[in-house]
Amino acid sequence: MAESAAPLLSTLRAIVGEANMLTSDADVAPYVTDWRDRYHGHARAVVRPGTTAEVAAVVRCCAEHDVPIVPQGGNTGLCGGATPHESGGEIVVSLSRLARVRAIDAANATLTIEAGVPLARAQQAADEAGFFFPLSLGAEGSATIGGNLSTNAGGTAVLRYGNARELVLGLEVVLADGRIWESLKGLRKDNTGYDVKQLFVGSEGTLGIITAAVLKLFPKPQTSATAFAALADVDAALALLGLLRQALGDRLTGFELVSRYCIELTRKEFPAFADPLPGYPWYALIQGEDPASESPLSAQLEIALGAAIEQQTARDATIAHSTAQADALWALREHITEAQRRDGPNIKHDISLPVSRIPEFLRNARARLDAAFPGVRYVTFGHLGDGNLHYNLSAPEAVAPTAFIAETSRANRIVYDLVAELGGSFSAEHGIGQLKRDELSRYKPALEVELMRAIKHALDPAGLLNPGKVV
Ligand code: FAD
Ligand code: MLT
Ligand code: ZN
Repeated sequence: MAESAAPLLSTLRAIVGEANMLTSDADVAPYVTDWRDRYHGHARAVVRPGTTAEVAAVVRCCAEHDVPIVPQGGNTGLCGGATPHESGGEIVVSLSRLARVRAIDAANATLTIEAGVPLARAQQAADEAGFFFPLSLGAEGSATIGGNLSTNAGGTAVLRYGNARELVLGLEVVLADGRIWESLKGLRKDNTGYDVKQLFVGSEGTLGIITAAVLKLFPKPQTSATAFAALADVDAALALLGLLRQALGDRLTGFELVSRYCIELTRKEFPAFADPLPGYPWYALIQGEDPASESPLSAQLEIALGAAIEQQTARDATIAHSTAQADALWALREHITEAQRRDGPNIKHDISLPVSRIPEFLRNARARLDAAFPGVRYVTFGHLGDGNLHYNLSAPEAVAPTAFIAETSRANRIVYDLVAELGGSFSAEHGIGQLKRDELSRYKPALEVELMRAIKHALDPAGLLNPGKVV
């Protein structure tokens, strides 16, 4: 190992330049721990290539030395996928310097962009060109396009626009042997056999390193409406979702569920946030968008919410009358994750179910978990319109968080067995990484795992791309 280390590092240094080769503990530290501070790894070095050709040279060099690679974007992932192992044998390849907007094709409504561009910057590039890029999530200031595609990120507008997978028309990828596969035509129709790009989407850096992508652009919303509704229970949330879909059609772009406890926890950590409608157990944060400027959207939303209150589907509702008010409602929602981080370690679940089965899940899960962990705190929120809940569990007040975390497997069995019974998924949008690898073998059909392993072996026979993640 010691013999081959010097040529490896000196070759990598020659490829990326001294300034982009990080080896000291202090320089490497931000790249070897995940956002939740749950995984702590080591790395031989962090390299920051600045072009696709440099990424390819780095991968070729690592392949020649039989050294594994961990691709990393903004390091905001929630499953430990971007964190190297404790062994310290890996090279972290940060894509942060691949940060160029390559092209905007207005007639084709596409944006060709490099993998290290932060999502918020991609949204801004689309906006400046008179378009809209709809992927949106709380970590968008740091999370990158490459990370979004590699995790098939979801976020708050999936209801209308779909996951990252549905927003990509082309990819450029460095393969495990360092060859560059370029497919950036940006075609909306291309039935020439297997859709190879979709293999890389959601593969969490285990099949190739995404270096650039062609993304779909949409007409810019000219009218938007944001509302917050108070609900007696989650059955009412589903009824409200159906009512608003009927009233707004695909102008309903977001429908987020937030529990009362989430509001209290977030306001405890961020006291400046207002409490929009105190005194109810559940809330829905509703977003509508219309590309038309003379749109009746706000009036229609108000009428629909009025009808919902009349028929007791909603107990109360408030509509934002300014961008500042809308932003405040969204900020409250988007700070739940950070509030939970400050509150201490917790057990995170990112599950999906057919929307119709969510109330049944919540009832049964609560009964089983209350029995197993009396006093457990439920931090339940998420993208109800997509059937995706962040069903997080925090330690009972009287129990030390570390002691509660030691019970993760027992809590996971209760939650994921129920999810499986009800026909859902144990990972809706965050991926597998290290966190849910064991769940994959447990809950995915064996044949499907076998197919995944066959694909992994075909594309990365030496197992050098993000080993120990996903499969
Ligand atoms: P990283 O964390 O750097 O990497 C994630 C995975 O992708 C790793 O396995 C890594 O190896 C791989 N990878 C990264 N870049 C590349 C590349 N160029 N080529 C190949 N592999 C690569 N996620 C959602 O889906 N919806 C949400 O609403 C959401 N909200 C969030 C809110 C907060 C506050 C936080 C902290 C996270 C949230 N996330 C959410 C999770 C996270 O932001 C997403 O998973 C995001 O897509 C990760 O992007 P990243 O650039 O940070 O990737
Ligand atoms: C969200 O929807 O806010 C995210 O997916 C982050 C989380 O689950 O905490
Ligand atoms: Zn989410």
